[in-house]
Amino acid sequence: MRRILVRSALGALVVFLAIQLVPYGWEKPNPPVVAEPTWPSARAEELARSACYDCHSNETDWPAYSYVAPMSWLVRRDVESGRDELNFSEWDGDGDDAAETVAEGSMPPAQYSLLHPGARLSDAERQELEAALLAIDD
Ligand code: HEC
Repeated sequence: MRRILVRSALGALVVFLAIQLVPYGWEKPNPPVVAEPTWPSARAEELARSACYDCHSNETDWPAYSYVAPMSWLVRRDVESGRDELNFSEWDGDGDDAAETVAEGSMPPAQYSLLHPGARLSDAERQELEAALLAIDD
């Protein structure tokens, strides 16, 4: 019985070490900031920075767990598809879609808020950020 346990633990360790060799997620690119929206207030920008910028800007604060597979893969994928949808550092639209996700409560994603309590928005903050995003023009 003990041998089986030791073997499974060793097996798990080998798999864990082996997946660290998969290069996807190694790179943590933060390309230059080229165009930013004009925030109606410093407070609104602060809310967006703490709730959205990790996935929707080129100023991602890569957390320690993003250096360890398999979390590194999930974080990298979130940032890639997040930046594709909306990028506050390569701004070229208006804030209407973003305001909608904030009003619905679909952004920031629940699993992110769980790990980043600072990104959680109170009802008042949601309303404040929604109004600010709506106020951002093309
Ligand atoms: C943990 C990373 C993460 C954070 C933080 C985050 N998003 Fe997203 N967001 C994504 C990903 C991934 C997608 C693309 C896939 C999808 O729609 O789920 C996305 C899609 C979007 C879209 C376009 C698609 C849609 O659902 O309409 C908008 C707009 C958006 N996010 C706004 C925001 C705003 C505003 C914030 C901050 C309040 C925010 N997001 C915070 C990861 C994130």
